[in-house]
Amino acid sequence: MGAYVDEFQRSIDQPEEFWLDAAKAIDWITPPATALDDSAPPLYRWYPGATLNTSVNALDRHVAAGRGDQPALIWDSAMVGEQRTFTYAELLDEVAVFAGALAARGIGKGDRVVIYLPMIPEAAIAMLACARIGALHSVVFGGFAAPELATRIDDAGAVAVITASGGLEPGRTVEYLPMVRAAIELSEAAPSTVIVKDRPQVAGSAADYGWLDWEEAVAAAEPAAPVEVAATDPLYVLYTSGTTGKPKGVVRDNGGHAVALAWSMRNVFGIEPGETWWAASDVGWVVGHSYIVYGPLLIGATSVMYEGKPVGTPDAGAFWRVISEHGVVALFTAPTAIRAIRKADPEATELAKYDMSAFRTLFAAGERLDPDTFFWASEKLGVPVVDHWWQTETGWPIVANLRGLEEMEIKAGSPSVPVPGYRVEVVDAEGAQVPAGTEGNIVVGLPLPPGTLAGLWRDDDRYRSSYLSAFPGYYLTGDSGYFDADGYLYVLGRSDDVINVAGHRLSTGSIEAVVAAHPAVAECAVVGIRDDLKGQRPSGYVVLKAGVEIADTDLREALVKMVREEIGAVATFRDVTVVQALPKTRSGKILRKTMRQIVDGEEYAVPSTIEDRSVLDELAEQLGPK
Ligand code: COA
Ligand code: AMP
Repeated sequence: MGAYVDEFQRSIDQPEEFWLDAAKAIDWITPPATALDDSAPPLYRWYPGATLNTSVNALDRHVAAGRGDQPALIWDSAMVGEQRTFTYAELLDEVAVFAGALAARGIGKGDRVVIYLPMIPEAAIAMLACARIGALHSVVFGGFAAPELATRIDDAGAVAVITASGGLEPGRTVEYLPMVRAAIELSEAAPSTVIVKDRPQVAGSAADYGWLDWEEAVAAAEPAAPVEVAATDPLYVLYTSGTTGKPKGVVRDNGGHAVALAWSMRNVFGIEPGETWWAASDVGWVVGHSYIVYGPLLIGATSVMYEGKPVGTPDAGAFWRVISEHGVVALFTAPTAIRAIRKADPEATELAKYDMSAFRTLFAAGERLDPDTFFWASEKLGVPVVDHWWQTETGWPIVANLRGLEEMEIKAGSPSVPVPGYRVEVVDAEGAQVPAGTEGNIVVGLPLPPGTLAGLWRDDDRYRSSYLSAFPGYYLTGDSGYFDADGYLYVLGRSDDVINVAGHRLSTGSIEAVVAAHPAVAECAVVGIRDDLKGQRPSGYVVLKAGVEIADTDLREALVKMVREEIGAVATFRDVTVVQALPKTRSGKILRKTMRQIVDGEEYAVPSTIEDRSVLDELAEQLGPK
């Protein structure tokens, strides 16, 4: 190790110098004089006193520097068989005029705008337009149902919703407008503006609801000038699942975010200005925010935005087609997508049909990259397959193999080494560092580097209690794992009740809340069990109220429908098992981890705090491997 060790050490020994250097990649209105404001630990702020505009950094400055005719965004929809390319100059025009349309509705600095859009260019345009006028966007994934949308509208205090007539899923259309109306009816303070992008493929339009049509809004608008914001002003709020049913509003600032993403595009992903990069995620997730929209545009690269699936749209060659048609140099996707491709095309015969000559790296994150999938992809693609580990809260990689810095060894099953700026440690329950090879809680020393969460939206208490109070001086990631003797981290999974389904983060608590509301259910537990394709899937265990008789199939059908209507299709809740009782500790805590171990056929220790051992034995008899 050479360049990596030097850079990592510099980031730890001289963080001021390191992050002021990195800040030179950004165009500031008032450049930062200092990097870190550490006047109120454990809360930290980056680049105090500096000002900028994020959309100028993503668009205007590249046009000014002569990149106006270079593609900024290539939209490729396998769902409708269309492609559209926006040059930097074109994207800037679209963003400025949509920002003008928002401003004309009285939306400005500090206001919150909920964006509920499928994977169409308007999603990126709306996000950047908010950034231009200093409004905060809060993007909600299209797979969430009305009540989840309502929770986010309310928590953010949104003044506007930007949406479309709908999304396209294989074999069906998803009509957004009835869901938006239901969400607004459910929410306490209805947003005053709803702007609708009409998609001819999906029924419903703004006129049906008395809302504003996107095209009409922009036809009447003047381009908006960028607004100067403080580096520490929030750019967006993105909700993610916590251990309770209430999602957490992760707040991202403007300055640290721009610096960190630009740094990561080059140093982690090894992408240069002018190159074509593709993150196959959705704008509703943090990967979409950081690496479909902001990261690539901040450095003047070309970003591919794909509407479709890895398989079935139309086949398992879909990803290879996009890579070859657009000259993609690196793809970022979730291991589930690779597993889906492998399952459909184990010999990768589709791959031979495409020119993959520009392609040099496959990046995977969002869930554990299992060695089997890693070896398959490495062999078939013949390029480095690079795992990296991070979360919505951090906004960019915590642990990675930094391809732009140095070609370090890649070890199957490990996302590699701590990224500069992150002091990663593995500690036991008391907070003491454990030796290499020993599993423990993965924590990061404070302050976290720029670009990581500035807090939770209007909830400092929850920020402190969820992340900062378990181990003073450290940020709790919620994952467990271990370091090997070479300093490579192995992430084993969550140590809380958050599960990861197809790279999507879900709270078992929120699914339990829906299941428990069924009149036949006395109590329930939802556990993330192993799934060959999606990594994990939620599985419900239900105790019926005494005297209730209901057929298992009827109960299952009803619960699946309820979860779909309350949380959304994304919950992929399909398994329901009726059990006699749930195993608990004497203080009444359900032993979810032990249940998962039983179902997954893993060894488990009987906790000393167990209330009634026979419940566990019965469960093992019913659910354990036969
Ligand atoms: N809007 C509305 N519904 C959506 C949706 C969206 N944006 N995205 C998914 N859904 C629905 C699907 O239609 C499906 O509904 P169904 O129950 O009616 O079939 C359900 O949510 C589950 O979707 P999905 O997880 O996509 O499962 P699938 O079985 O349809 O497809 C894969 C399997 C592997 C192809 C798919 O999970 C996949 O592409 N995974 C990779 C995901 C990824 O990139 N994650 C990383 C995010 S950083
Ligand atoms: P999200 O906030 O949705 O990005 O989910 C973050 C969580 O996904 C992490 O806390 C991990 O549990 C899991 N995760 C993300 N990337 C990886 C990875 N490369 N390896 C293992 N787990 C991962």
